[in-house]
Amino acid sequence: MKKIAVLTSGGDSPGMNAAIRAVARAAVFHDIECYGVYRGFQGLIEGDYELLTARSVKNLIQKGGTFLKSMRCEGFRTREGRENAFNQLKKHEIDGLIVIGGDGSFRGASLFGSEFDFPVIGIPSTIDNDVQGTDFSIGFDTALNTVVEAIDKIRDTASSHNRLFLVEVMGRDAGNIALNAGIGAGAGEILIPEQKIDFEELLEALDKHKATGKSSNIVVIAEGDQTGKNISELAGQIQQQRKEYDVRVTVLGHIQRGGSPSCYDRVLASRLGVAAVDALMNGETKVMTAVVHGKIITVPFGDKTELHLNKNEELMRVAKIISI
Ligand code: F6P
Repeated sequence: MKKIAVLTSGGDSPGMNAAIRAVARAAVFHDIECYGVYRGFQGLIEGDYELLTARSVKNLIQKGGTFLKSMRCEGFRTREGRENAFNQLKKHEIDGLIVIGGDGSFRGASLFGSEFDFPVIGIPSTIDNDVQGTDFSIGFDTALNTVVEAIDKIRDTASSHNRLFLVEVMGRDAGNIALNAGIGAGAGEILIPEQKIDFEELLEALDKHKATGKSSNIVVIAEGDQTGKNISELAGQIQQQRKEYDVRVTVLGHIQRGGSPSCYDRVLASRLGVAAVDALMNGETKVMTAVVHGKIITVPFGDKTELHLNKNEELMRVAKIISI
């Protein structure tokens, strides 16, 4: 390994900059040249690279977003696009690639690695924490803190006015943010994509809370929940059927993707970044660096480890018990 490249892909997450910094510095530490690729796989196709030095990644560990920029790239889904990317890498004499992103990015990276026999390592980074094989992805912890802080504020006004608040959080396919932040912020009910709940069940649960003396309540809803209604329709329907509730809606949206990374995410990004360079140097490919039970390991792309089974069930049980 003489030259490597690093890029960020897919939805950004707080701590991506810290991961780029760790990769760049680990490379310099091992006398490897490290190139930053701008705009994810699109920049890889176009050869939009810049040499990173230990100093050019200074003052980054605390910054949200990704200074290399990120995007979802249609071109990389085609054989022609991936071939152009390979030719650019060869032209720049790059020996290995590190992809910081989520599952979708790793699928592209894995295919690319197989097609061109090119060493690729992933670093899991998404606020959704839905990459199988790692306990945590970079950005999840920060996003949870953002959500909990916001809901704490909502709770103040909810309780002053005896209101029912529906709060939508990110998670098109995964309920990890909703479940964890919901527990952390003391939500009455939590709706996630992984669990079907019908409208009547929700109303019944809310009535039960009211009967036990809750004058205000917070329902945390992941974007991809299974009610089949958007959050405003849901609020309207609850209001229509329960005149006694005073219902309000808050959609937290993209504030969850931004902000200065938490200390946990900075440390995780640093560990996973250093490990990714180690993995390339050890001749590994088509693996991601991961944290499992506190230890940093490498896991093949797409590996469905048993470690993640029942994770939601346990949290759902906790949420049910402590929200009575
Ligand atoms: O990063 C993942 C995610 O935050 C999802 O939870 C969300 O649905 C999606 O990104 C939104 O992304 P975008 O606004 O980039 O389409």
